[in-house]
Amino acid sequence: MKVLVIGNGGREHAIAWKLLQSPTVQQVICVPGNGGTATTPRCLNLAMNALDFEGIARFALVNGVELVVVGPEAPLAAGATDYLQNQGLTVFGPTKMGAQIEASKAWAKDLMREANIPTAAAMVFTEASAALSYVQQQGAPIVIKADGLAAGKGVTVATTIADAEAAIADAFGGKFGEAGQRVVIETCLTGQEVSVLAVTDGLTIRPLLPAQDHKRIGDRDTGANTGGMGAYAPAPIATPALMDRIQQEILAPAIATLRARGIDYRGVLYAGLMITPAGDPLVIEFNCRFGDPETQVVLPLLETPLADLLLACAEQRLEAFPPLEWKTGAAACVVLAAGGYPEAYEKGKPITGIEQAETQDAIVFHAGTQKRGQAIVTDGGRVLNVVATGDSLATAIAQAYAAINAIQFDEMYYRRDIGDQAKQPSSEPA
Ligand code: AMP
Ligand code: GLY
Repeated sequence: MKVLVIGNGGREHAIAWKLLQSPTVQQVICVPGNGGTATTPRCLNLAMNALDFEGIARFALVNGVELVVVGPEAPLAAGATDYLQNQGLTVFGPTKMGAQIEASKAWAKDLMREANIPTAAAMVFTEASAALSYVQQQGAPIVIKADGLAAGKGVTVATTIADAEAAIADAFGGKFGEAGQRVVIETCLTGQEVSVLAVTDGLTIRPLLPAQDHKRIGDRDTGANTGGMGAYAPAPIATPALMDRIQQEILAPAIATLRARGIDYRGVLYAGLMITPAGDPLVIEFNCRFGDPETQVVLPLLETPLADLLLACAEQRLEAFPPLEWKTGAAACVVLAAGGYPEAYEKGKPITGIEQAETQDAIVFHAGTQKRGQAIVTDGGRVLNVVATGDSLATAIAQAYAAINAIQFDEMYYRRDIGDQAKQPSSEPA
C-alpha cells in the first residue's frame, strides 16, 4: 500500500523509515518531508503545505493512498483528520475535537478532572490581574502555562514570584498570540519525567515502550527549554508494574472519557508524566501525536509492522491486533542542533559525514534539513537525530556518540550527557 505522512521533522522521517519496513508498504509520500525523506528509497517528498488539506486529499485520492498518518499537532488541531476522513480517506490521528487534549491545556485539565486522572492541581485564568493575585497568594515555585499551542515554549516553571509575574505578563501581553490569552497556573511537581506514547483506536489503548526526553538545551538539564535534545528508550523508571498503573489510572480513563464526550480518538495519545519521589505517576500534559524525539528511539525497537498497527487503529480493530513485539535492548538518540537554537540560528549550512555515520551502526534521521542539488544543508534548529540501538542503554549511547564524530556542519551543537541519568543504577551513589 501507499501511505502518506504529513510533517517534516525527525519524527516524520522515523515514521516513514519504519513504515517502509512493513511488508505491506510499497511507497511513503511525505508532505512536505525533509532532506532525509528526499533521499530515502521508495519515499517521495510532495512539496505542499501541511495545512493544504484540499491539495493533500486530492493527491491521496488520485494516487490510491490507503492510509494517511498526521505527524505534528498543528494540522491535527486545524482539523486535518476531519477533512481527510470526509473525503473518504483512512487517517491515523485524532479529529480536531480530540486534538483539543493538546491544543488547550484548560480543556485537557477539565478532561482529567472528569476522568479522575492524577495531575497537578490547576486554575484557569483569562485576566492578568486575577492570575497575578493568585500567584501572590500561592507563592513559588509555581507553573504558568499558555493555554494553546506555543511550539513547546508556553510553559514557565517559575522559581520566584517575580518569574511567575513576568510569565503572566508575557502571556497576556501577546507573546504567544491567541494561545496565551488564557493561562493555566498549576502546582509545581517534582520527580522524574517519562513519556508514554500509546496507540489507540478510540476503544482500546496500547502503550509503546516508555521513553525519556531531554528538554533543556544544556548538559545536566540547564538552560532554556527546547523541542527535545535527545531521548532514550526504554526508560527504566517505568517498570512493568508502573506501566500497569499508567494504563489503569491514566490511559484507559482518558480514552473512556473522550468516548463519553463523543470523541472517536484514533491516533497517538502521548502522556507526559512526572513520576513523584513516592513512585506515583502524574500527568504533566497530554499530546495528540507521536513525541519528537521520543519516536526516534521507540520505533527502531518495534518489531511489529508499523503500517499494520496504525491501520488497525485507523480502522478501529486494535483489540484483535496481536500483542506488540519489541527488540530486546535499548535505543538512544542525540539531537544535533544549529548553534544558537532555541534562540536565533542560521540555516543553509552544508552537512557532511551522514553516510559515514550510517556505516557505523547508527541511523541518522533528518529533522531540519533540505536536499539542495546533491548536498544536504541545514534548514532548522534541530538538524539531525543520530540514533543507535544496542544490547544495553550504555552501548546504544556510546554507539550514537561514536557515529556523531563523522558528522560535521558549521556551529553544530549537541548535548554530551544524553541518557546519563539512566545509565547508572539509581541505588549507586552519584
Ligand atoms: P509542556 O510544554 O507542558 O511539556 O511542559 C514543558 C516542561 O515543563 C515539562 O516537560 C516539565 O519539565 C515542565 N512542567 C510542566 N508542568 C509542570 C509542573 N506542573 N511541575 C513541574 N514541571 C512542569
Ligand atoms: N518531546 C516532546 C514532545 O514531543 O512534545
